[in-house]
Amino acid sequence: MPLNPHPLIVHFPIALLLTSVALSWAGRIWKHNNFERASWYTLLLGLAGAVFAVISGLLAARSVPLDSPALATLSTHRLLGIATVVVFGLLTLCTWRNKGVYSPGKRVLHTLIQIIGVALIVGVGLFGGELVYTFGIGVMTP
Ligand code: HEM
Repeated sequence: MPLNPHPLIVHFPIALLLTSVALSWAGRIWKHNNFERASWYTLLLGLAGAVFAVISGLLAARSVPLDSPALATLSTHRLLGIATVVVFGLLTLCTWRNKGVYSPGKRVLHTLIQIIGVALIVGVGLFGGELVYTFGIGVMTP
């Protein structure tokens, strides 16, 4: 079995992107700039992690047999993974352009993108777990 870094990488974007959104919401409740700053840096790191997760995931997927019963789950997982990068990429762009100052309309849009991003990252993790723990993808059988 070739060396597969996907399981090593994936936990970083999951933790960092969820933390980034939580810090952003904490900043809105407690109105402290440090939360916004911490949210920004965790967002950048999480996005970088998600890009690496997609690259390593696409490589890992090449070793899944074409007749595997896991193919439907794999394609949903792949779609959610790519969508995660697109949505958090958009969030990064919005945050950078607005420099943390939002009109009420933009604030709602920003929050909506965050909620969609959280749903995607939870979904991608659940489907990824299913690939391993239900279908045994990437697991070496004795
Ligand atoms: C944001 C992007 C992604 C995240 C966060 C992510 C997350 C995960 C997680 C949590 C697992 C279970 C690993 C474990 O429990 O140790 C997994 C497995 C897997 N993922 Fe992803 N994934 C992403 C993108 C992708 C993409 C784009 C593909 C391409 C099809 C992919 C293919 C796989 C495969 C084949 C497995 C089975 C285990 C393996 O071979 O590594 N993933 N993923």
